[in-house]
Amino acid sequence: MRVLVTGASGRLGQAVVPRLLADGVTVRATSRHRRVDPAVEWVPADLATGEGLPAAVAGTEAVLHLASAPNQGSRTHQVDVLGTRRLVVAAGQAGVRHLVYVSIVGVDRVPFGYYRHKLAAEEVVRSGPVPWTILRATQFPQFLAELLTRSSRLGPVIGDRAVLAQPVDPAEVADRLVARLAAGPLDDVEEYAGPQVLRFDEAARAWQAAKGSRRPFLPVRLPGRLGRSLRAGGLTTRATPTGTRTWADHLADTYGGTGKR
Ligand SMILES: NC(=O)c1ccc[n+]([C@@H]2O[C@H](COP(=O)([O-])OP(=O)(O)OC[C@H]3O[C@@H](n4cnc5c(N)ncnc54)[C@H](OP(=O)(O)O)[C@@H]3O)[C@@H](O)[C@H]2O)c1
Repeated sequence: MRVLVTGASGRLGQAVVPRLLADGVTVRATSRHRRVDPAVEWVPADLATGEGLPAAVAGTEAVLHLASAPNQGSRTHQVDVLGTRRLVVAAGQAGVRHLVYVSIVGVDRVPFGYYRHKLAAEEVVRSGPVPWTILRATQFPQFLAELLTRSSRLGPVIGDRAVLAQPVDPAEVADRLVARLAAGPLDDVEEYAGPQVLRFDEAARAWQAAKGSRRPFLPVRLPGRLGRSLRAGGLTTRATPTGTRTWADHLADTYGGTGKR
């Protein structure tokens, strides 16, 4: 079986590709940049223009659509929404039998601009000609760590302590995606999250302890509908199964230590 992976060079893509190869799948992968790897059929393609997409989907049975250009305003619309439409149309014309799209838990609840684009892209997939599966994952721990780094740029860690997160390891998301691919089109949305729901201040405390940092935590309250939805668990899900790798496991991998909280 030959599978096309968009966004194969990204954080999730780098977990998905070896996982597929280990299962004996022939992997074709798109990038806007020239890449060479004897194990993978790298092809150039750009979702923003549609260039390369017909050739990329030709002869593939399934597509794992991971590529995205977050938080770039109209470019995000170009890549995520219109680019997904270009991909879905090309895949339909090429007779692709299953398209798996990776989305984010909360796209239907949390009023981030990026999530509006992801939800619109989901709609493109749902209404397109190719049988589909949508897997909504929660944030990767690396994303939470980047957010904490940005939140502490001014000295203290600044954040709304009651915001809830449920980070999931991208390698476990990759496993789930490959399982979903093997199971065939779900024509539905599945949510997939990490094993623990954490408050932002708990996540920050554990992150600081792992780094040996003693910065104070400066609480702020995120206003409006955004703050309410994040505190109400808009980024979390009760869906099972969940991944098994915890925030503490990620911190132990990154900074050393026992991995126990
Ligand atoms: N990060 C998270 O915490 C998280 C959580 C849940 C779900 N997700 C979803 O998971 C997916 C992958 O996330 P990630 O964090 O792995 O992304 P990432 O590391 O930011 O990688 C983005 C990928 O998109 C590709 N891309 C960007 N613009 C493109 C364009 N115009 N045409 C074609 N490809 C383009 C890039 O490929 P080249 O640069 O090689 O062209 C790159 O491989 C996304 O759909 C995201 O919404 C992410």
